[in-house]
Amino acid sequence: MALQLPPGVNRRYAALAAIALGAIWLWVAFDRPYKFPDHIAWNIYSNRPLSGQTTEVRDVFDFPPLESESIKSICGETQWNQSVVFTCDKSVGGIGNLRNSILNCVRYAISAGASLVVPSIVLRNTSDISQIRTGVETDMSYMFDTQHFLDSIRLSCPSLQIHSSINDIKDFENAHEVISLLPESLVEHVPATGLPEPEAWRSQFYTWLEQYSTPEVTGPMIINLGRSYLQYPIYSDAKLFALSFGSILKFRSDVRVLAVKTLQSLADTYFLTLDLTQDILPNAFFGAHLRTEKDAVEGWPAPDWIYSRFETQSRVYLEQAPRSSSSVIYVASGDLNEVAKFAHNASTSPNNYSVTTKFDLLKGKDLEELQALKWDQQALVDFLVMLKASDFAGIGHSSFAWNVALKRHVLATNKKHLDGPQMLSDELSQIYGNIRGYPEYAACLWP
Ligand SMILES: *[C@@H]1O[C@H](CO)[C@@H](O)[C@H](O)[C@H]1NC(C)=O
Ligand SMILES: *[C@@H]1O[C@H](CO)[C@@H](O)[C@H](O)[C@H]1NC(C)=O
Ligand SMILES: *[C@@H]1O[C@H](CO)[C@@H](O)[C@H](O)[C@H]1NC(C)=O
Ligand SMILES: *[C@@H]1O[C@H](CO)[C@@H](O)[C@H](O)[C@H]1NC(C)=O
Repeated sequence: MALQLPPGVNRRYAALAAIALGAIWLWVAFDRPYKFPDHIAWNIYSNRPLSGQTTEVRDVFDFPPLESESIKSICGETQWNQSVVFTCDKSVGGIGNLRNSILNCVRYAISAGASLVVPSIVLRNTSDISQIRTGVETDMSYMFDTQHFLDSIRLSCPSLQIHSSINDIKDFENAHEVISLLPESLVEHVPATGLPEPEAWRSQFYTWLEQYSTPEVTGPMIINLGRSYLQYPIYSDAKLFALSFGSILKFRSDVRVLAVKTLQSLADTYFLTLDLTQDILPNAFFGAHLRTEKDAVEGWPAPDWIYSRFETQSRVYLEQAPRSSSSVIYVASGDLNEVAKFAHNASTSPNNYSVTTKFDLLKGKDLEELQALKWDQQALVDFLVMLKASDFAGIGHSSFAWNVALKRHVLATNKKHLDGPQMLSDELSQIYGNIRGYPEYAACLWP
């Protein structure tokens, strides 16, 4: 078996690797397992093709359907109403927006005791990414694993009935005309930290609904929920509820596998030994979210212009880079011209950082698969890679950055993450901006 070794790998490691390869070969040859066991670390050897066989990719971003006691207990206390059905098909934007909006639909369905039609997603305009409200709808499997969603609801909130489509609703022929509702519009004043009394929403909802009740119509009331974003205070239920609820959504399997392959290639390229089963990969790479794409530059509110500038992001990220004790910066960005500018800055900085992206790391068929995905789907690969970065940086008006940082924060020991010096600061992430500048993210974005 010819073994191509990178320069600088000494004989002892080569011998060890050869033994390991031999063992793996024997085991693959005789056992043909579908998955590698937990104890095998991905390292620079483990994903080399073995005897012409491609090794199976262990999907470290997969997880079983959620069975959460805290969600079960809230659902168990709910009075369910067979005659009220919610639809959730107005979710727009990137992953941070979509995820939060869909989760809010489910949370409001639980509040009302309503059933829910499987959510759908509004597609971004591919020829102008700053247009997110196109009215063109697609299935939630565009971003998420729908079966995982259905299984998680069944396990964590069995009374919440999910309809596969609007036609699936019982007695649909006799339904009322569909009514639209932006859930938060029932509340007079919603502060930045979200609904002041989410527990009062149910009765506000039924009071509002009464005006539509007509005795001659016997069928269900179908309510089309508007896009709900950063208005539901996630910590109003038990903390465990807030921390687990987001796991009813899981990314689709092809992007999870691409993210694993991206990390494997990163390990290969930079000679890192990584155990991808770890939540955070220490001393491996710094993840920087360069949010200077067209939609962001056009969409950002004026007071934030300083953080939306390339120069600012480049400067603060390179200042933070030494925290990760690595010379590699993985950049999440949907704009390769911006990445090239940053790569130049990074390589001319005193620490001469190497900058890489999913487009550099994925090869051949994997790269083709990535390129065939839409812009927002490609971003899912970055989202997953960022979750495992040694350190992470983003800017304060990006829900993508907040979502990544808040998920990482669950693992952080510094719990005073909102007390500065930046908008979010813990030992795993920094989100740049003025302290407490956007309280809605920490208060209303499901991690
Ligand atoms: C269920 O919803 C209907 C409206 O369709 C309403 O009249 C009724 O009071 C609700 N029942 C409960 C228990 O909330
Ligand atoms: C997408 O954007 C292009 C260019 O602005 C425009 O011509 C087209 O109508 C848009 N499509 C949709 C579905 O909004
Ligand atoms: C980074 O790039 C910007 C603009 O491209 C430039 O103004 C700045 O001086 C660069 N910084 C470094 C450290 O190279
Ligand atoms: C930075 O590192 C690269 C290799 O990663 C090397 O080719 C380049 O010469 C270095 N640049 C400087 C200024 O040291």
